[in-house]
Amino acid sequence: MVGDAQTPGTAESPGTDTDWALRPVTIEDVEEIAFAELELFPDESWNVFQLAAEIEHPDRRYVLAAQGPQADGALLGYAGIMLAGDLADLHTIGTRREGAGIGRALLGWCEEQARSAGAGRMLLEVREDNSRARAFYAAAGYREIDRRRGYYRIRGRRIDALVMERALS
Ligand SMILES: CC(C)(COP(=O)(O)OP(=O)(O)OC[C@H]1O[C@@H](n2cnc3c(N)ncnc32)[C@H](O)[C@@H]1OP(=O)(O)O)[C@@H](O)C(=O)NCCC(=O)NCCS
Repeated sequence: MVGDAQTPGTAESPGTDTDWALRPVTIEDVEEIAFAELELFPDESWNVFQLAAEIEHPDRRYVLAAQGPQADGALLGYAGIMLAGDLADLHTIGTRREGAGIGRALLGWCEEQARSAGAGRMLLEVREDNSRARAFYAAAGYREIDRRRGYYRIRGRRIDALVMERALS
């Protein structure tokens, strides 16, 4: 449904219990996402130039959640993937309203985009000390397949990345 707002939920009941919806990110969203990056990833936030390059790249797919049935209100979350043949890589995901199902909806959108593009697997990296995200991914069916030692350097400290994977078929 690229180009259209999309309410989360089933086909029979398209998210009528929520006050938000999903829609594909456009370049006009880049500044608001950059502000959210600073809140969600204070140690490793992308700037507007990095985000713009991501959003406009032909092999990326970005989605956001925002208030309102057309997702034209306040930004509540966003996510993006890189497509690479059989693989897709989750580049980012974050929500400003935790525990409301927004992360699940964003991840589901990304998985659907990856599937439609022919990817059979989704990969992601998560900081070892991000227990909330690890629980979120595990609940979504991802399992740890690798560890990248010292992958993140946060204020001079090295933190491992866990690589997680889920089959999309
Ligand atoms: C990780 C993150 C994206 C999850 O988004 P969210 O909108 O809060 O997650 P949802 O409400 O969709 O939760 C979906 C499921 O994940 C699991 N989950 C979410 N948060 C959890 C927690 N703190 N502990 C255990 N399980 C959790 C639950 O199974 C949940 O389902 P349930 O509510 O039916 O129990 C969000 O916490 C976030 O933005 N964190 C900061 C940025 C970040 O770390 N991003 C990931 C970088 S790798």
